[in-house]
Amino acid sequence: MDWGMKNRLSKLMGADGHCFYLPIDHGYFQGPTASLEKPGETIKPLLPYCDALFVTRGVLRSAVDSNINKPIILRVSGGTSMAGKDLANEGITTSIREIIRLNVCAVGISIFVGSDYEHQTLMNLSQLVNDCEDYGIPVMAVTAVGKEVGQKDARYLALSCRIAAELGAKVVKTYWCEKDFDKVVEGCPVPVVMAGGPKCETELEVFEFVYDGMQKGAIGINLGRNVWQNPHPVAVAKALRAIVHEKATPKQAYQVFNEAKK
Ligand code: 5RP
Repeated sequence: MDWGMKNRLSKLMGADGHCFYLPIDHGYFQGPTASLEKPGETIKPLLPYCDALFVTRGVLRSAVDSNINKPIILRVSGGTSMAGKDLANEGITTSIREIIRLNVCAVGISIFVGSDYEHQTLMNLSQLVNDCEDYGIPVMAVTAVGKEVGQKDARYLALSCRIAAELGAKVVKTYWCEKDFDKVVEGCPVPVVMAGGPKCETELEVFEFVYDGMQKGAIGINLGRNVWQNPHPVAVAKALRAIVHEKATPKQAYQVFNEAKK
């Protein structure tokens, strides 16, 4: 592996090999998502606790300070909306020249396995890997499920993650599932990061699934709504950091949360 690729990967994964990415890319198909109307304001207090920011080029240029000291993972797929017919009908939105110009650490792209656009989105991933490998830029594949979030089992997630890795993704972002999540991770030859999904009812629920996923081999999280839609986003971020980087249990994380809330 070339130095550039190794260097970028080392920035994406901390010294302990774990990571906490903060996604604020939701607007690319959801528009002004609740608590993300002003993304620059949302991220300001949270940046100290996360390891990288997942964002589109539009929000990066318009709302993120260029002297930010966190690595950027650029969302480079899109072309659909909540109002449209099918969220899976994505293309690559951002050229390799733009990716290089923005000096990002990695790029992220969705694949929709099992959808009508399976082939198209898998070829998007393959094309992006071809372009990015030339310049030492890692690709994170997002195993997207559109509106069926929370309905996919380990068998489906394992299938999606493995395909993403086989096509060249260096990291795969997928959803945690209650049963057999270890099989999802074990079947994927590259590191797996967990997404959050819609906001959970309680903080403890979030801490429990993140802890469980880490125990089962995930290297970290890419959690958005459960952080910045919480009334105490900084407290949640601190607690999640404790689980991901300090091996805190859900109970300990909850204590961190309650302390930080004060
Ligand atoms: C949106 C994404 C998000 O980055 C991903 O879903 C994580 O955010 P959340 O924790 O809010 O689900 O890919 O398309």
